[in-house]
Amino acid sequence: MDKIVIEGGLPLRGTVKISGAKNAALPILAATLLSRGTHHLKNIPSLRDVNTIQKIMGRLGVSFESKGKELVVDTSNVVHHEAPYELVKTMRASILLLGPLVAGYGRAKISLPGGCAIGARPINLHLKALAQMGVDMYLDQGYVNARARRLRGADIFFDIPTVTGTENIMMAAALAKGTTVLRNAAKEPEVQDLAIFLRKMGAQIEGDGTDTITIQGAEELRPADHDIIPDRIEAGTFLIASAMTRGDVRIENCRPEHMTALLEKVESAGAKIQISRGAIHVMGPEKVQSVDIKTLPYPGFPTDLQAQFMAFMCIADGWSMIRETIFENRFIHVSELRRMGADIEINSNQALVRGKNKLLAAPVMATDLRASASLILAGLVAQGGLTQVHRIYHLDRGYERLEEKFRALGAKIWREKE
Ligand code: EPU
Repeated sequence: MDKIVIEGGLPLRGTVKISGAKNAALPILAATLLSRGTHHLKNIPSLRDVNTIQKIMGRLGVSFESKGKELVVDTSNVVHHEAPYELVKTMRASILLLGPLVAGYGRAKISLPGGCAIGARPINLHLKALAQMGVDMYLDQGYVNARARRLRGADIFFDIPTVTGTENIMMAAALAKGTTVLRNAAKEPEVQDLAIFLRKMGAQIEGDGTDTITIQGAEELRPADHDIIPDRIEAGTFLIASAMTRGDVRIENCRPEHMTALLEKVESAGAKIQISRGAIHVMGPEKVQSVDIKTLPYPGFPTDLQAQFMAFMCIADGWSMIRETIFENRFIHVSELRRMGADIEINSNQALVRGKNKLLAAPVMATDLRASASLILAGLVAQGGLTQVHRIYHLDRGYERLEEKFRALGAKIWREKE
């Protein structure tokens, strides 16, 4: 397994280009199953999670041709309907195949994703909604077996606005008979990007981006071409890193309008920010001000940037209260940040960060994707030697060549074999 080594202390300077969004690419790849034929997807990021969904879809009979950042997806020969345990266990988002398979082919057998490092992450809301749409399901040997003739539209209320749940049911509803209304739906930009793709396939969808989405089911859909939106979490990670290292960075190929909550917080922490179309210019503050955050569904502060923002607050002037309301166990980075000298006290879902004027280099261990990014950010400002971030396997699931992009901004960071 690889590790990332960082010699901290240099301000980031220059321009960085943001890749396509992992969490938009995954549901859109799954949605290609809703029609037979050839789809052209642009701005597909090269990530382990994207490879994993391709591997599973490959077993179903889908073929892929990669042309740089474009992926040609051919769904003409789908013959299997099973997502096996050995692949699903490495990526929970595999559950996104359930809706399209059962709606498009009348059957699906998907391994139930287990718990994961950041929380139990049940999929009860996906299953309940599919049952309302007429899908018969039973659990056998850890697999959800689903069958249906044609799904029927339904009025569905989500107890919690679930991102992949909304996406799964939106895809299933696109081929259902009649109208489906999703209430308390997720409003994330990735849900909207999927809705745009589905509309290009011929689906009738209204209200995406609001908490009520209405889908008029179609008899059939057609293949489509699409350009995946930029990754707001990757852009946010660079924004925080630039502010934190007191850098001067232009972040290109991003959508600032998807990042309002973060931009406001980074500005409150003292950074200077200039926004133009598709780009953000950030200049870090001399003195970092402490800011409180609370993670919330979009458009609130994203849970996927909580760990990175906490690393930032570790060097703030003052105390910062960080509240995590989406996942029950998303403070796993805290004990590692403490090894770098951070002063953080956890009380249930709240972390009180007492800012210090420096962090110290140390060997640390990454336990989930965003926690890995947080430790790398801490390493970029750490003093007194080399920070080594072990088990960065998670990082490659969701960041494209992160260390190379940081190196191009002047950081001393490299990858080594363990
Ligand atoms: N929940 C339920 N039942 C369900 C579904 C969700 O109780 O059936 C709960 C979850 O346990 C959680 C809350 O609802 O407490 C919200 O979870 P959600 O379903 O929205 O999360 P997700 O769809 O599994 C996606 C992203 C995550 C991101 C979350 C929240 C993808 C592939 N994953 O997960 O991304 O953290 O939304 O925004 O879109 C990441 O990229 O690092 C990542 C973890």
